[in-house]
Amino acid sequence: MASDLQKTTVAVILIASFLAYTCFLYMSLPIKSYATSNACIEGKKTWQNYNCAACHQVYGLGGYLGPDLTNVYSKRGPQYIQAFISNGTNVMPNFHLSNNEQENLIAYFKNIDSSGKSDPKTFFVHNNGTIEQ
Ligand code: HEC
Repeated sequence: MASDLQKTTVAVILIASFLAYTCFLYMSLPIKSYATSNACIEGKKTWQNYNCAACHQVYGLGGYLGPDLTNVYSKRGPQYIQAFISNGTNVMPNFHLSNNEQENLIAYFKNIDSSGKSDPKTFFVHNNGTIEQ
């Protein structure tokens, strides 16, 4: 049967390992900060006001009627997006957005596009559980 000293030693080693690993993980997280313009912030509000997430996902979160739009900016380009949101299609409503709202939405798409990829198949998973894109 283990003595109290042995139990305390094991507990101290476990707690120290937990703390060291936690510090290591948080220090090695690939967190970057992205500057956001006013247009981008307004674009996010427009996105929320018109409830675009009812049909679209950003980083996989949202409705599934329309495609994920996280990387639509690099995939399609601003002219394509503008044409799409100013006209709508058979399945996507035309919201009659003002020019300003359209430009803000495009700034929002540009910003989220630069923050990463939404397709998990393109991620590289490290042994410590963090991912690289
Ligand atoms: C009622 C559901 C619905 C809502 C709400 C909606 N969309 Fe869509 N959207 C769609 C569908 C469906 C498609 C794909 C349509 C197609 O290919 O004809 C689409 C396509 C798009 C595309 C083109 C994506 C691509 O890769 O081709 C953009 C950009 C877009 N939507 C932006 C928006 C924005 C911005 C809003 C909010 C103002 C919005 N959508 C709201 C259904 C919706």
